[in-house]
Amino acid sequence: MVRDPLGTYGALARRYGDAVRVPFGAGRAFFLLSRPEHAERVLVAGQDNYVKAFTYRPLRAVLGDGLLTSEGETWRRHRRLVQPVFSQRHIVGFVPQMVETAERFVRRWPDGVMLDAAGELRKLTLDIVGRALFGSELAGEAQRTGRALEALQRGTVIGTFLPGVTAKRELYRRVPGLGGAIAHLDGMVQRVVQGGSGGELLNLLKERGEFDAEELRDEVLTLLLAGHETTAASLAWTLVLLSRYPAARERLEEEVDDVLGGREPKAEDADRLPWTKAVLSEAMRLYPPAWTIERDAVNDDDVAGVRIPAGSTVAIPPYLIHRNEDFWPNPEGFQPERFIGDQQRPRYAYLPFGGGRRICVGAGFAMLEATLVLATISRAYRLDLAPGVAVPGRAEITYRPAGPVPMRVIRR
Ligand code: HEM
Repeated sequence: MVRDPLGTYGALARRYGDAVRVPFGAGRAFFLLSRPEHAERVLVAGQDNYVKAFTYRPLRAVLGDGLLTSEGETWRRHRRLVQPVFSQRHIVGFVPQMVETAERFVRRWPDGVMLDAAGELRKLTLDIVGRALFGSELAGEAQRTGRALEALQRGTVIGTFLPGVTAKRELYRRVPGLGGAIAHLDGMVQRVVQGGSGGELLNLLKERGEFDAEELRDEVLTLLLAGHETTAASLAWTLVLLSRYPAARERLEEEVDDVLGGREPKAEDADRLPWTKAVLSEAMRLYPPAWTIERDAVNDDDVAGVRIPAGSTVAIPPYLIHRNEDFWPNPEGFQPERFIGDQQRPRYAYLPFGGGRRICVGAGFAMLEATLVLATISRAYRLDLAPGVAVPGRAEITYRPAGPVPMRVIRR
């Protein structure tokens, strides 16, 4: 589980099916549930009975009372404050800045150069979220932040299986390298909070005066981390898939050329790029950055016929649901047309952003950003994966390419 959680989940599901009960220590059980109706019950209809699972504990030690890891009244207060900034009407206002940042970023790519697409996209998405939400330029921080995040991801997975790790200090002591990583992230947050022009969300969080310094730190760090790694991973997987499926890529280039006619994308264009969006959606089906969503049951429950005793942990992995053959014919195949036109499948057969009240607050932002970044890249460049290179994934908090993704940039 520690070394290869996704491989272990996959092997369990292959061997035992889409509802698996794994005995887990004294009287407790761990359930691996990979059908849409399971997701519907745990995340939506029965959500009052569930809290974030013990597997979030190490992350909570680092992100504290930010939206991703808080519960109850604290979570509600944070969500109420943050959510309006992510309304569809509102995020459209971020578009000019998103596009300008992306245009400037990709323009630095010399024709013919080989670069690490995953690293480049992390840099770009960190810069976009930093500017849009907090008015900070973070491109220069990306390299060290990337390394800090690697340590954080590994540390939190290891930390999950160390008993008693609920305090930050304990986690640092037990996971070498993590203290330095978090010190860097805290430094970055401090620069964001104290720095320059503020940015809308930061101003809002400060002005309301509802958050003390620590809560502000937790929320800024949460949004910086949750708001860039995931989007970067989905874009990296998308570019890898497009490089492997030339017909899908040609159709995307045609769409982008037709709709944009050589100019920069605007907010209205997102709705006129259905194939671009379908490509992203299909990439997130095959490689959902949030590959598992986990909860602990407060009371006994019945999840679509599976009896869940109080105190059990339930994993609802989008990765497995998205590949469940009952809902996705040819599950391993890359077929963006699945997301075009009428879609005959249960609502929670596809849940890259989760569901229920803890659904990703940045889902609209992420889709808009990813669509516009992909259009910006594709109108100017074609990226080819270096020949013979495999791109293994690594599943920790997010599922992302395990190492650098060498791609050659060709100007179109
Ligand atoms: C492709 C990109 C993204 C994916 C796949 C993704 C996925 C998810 C998922 C599955 C959850 C729910 C986790 C759970 O229920 O345990 C979540 C929560 C969250 N996401 Fe995202 N996310 C993405 C982008 C973003 C962006 C751009 C932001 C912010 C700028 C963001 C901020 C958050 C926050 C704050 C939460 C916690 C929400 C809450 O519990 O109230 N995410 N995300």
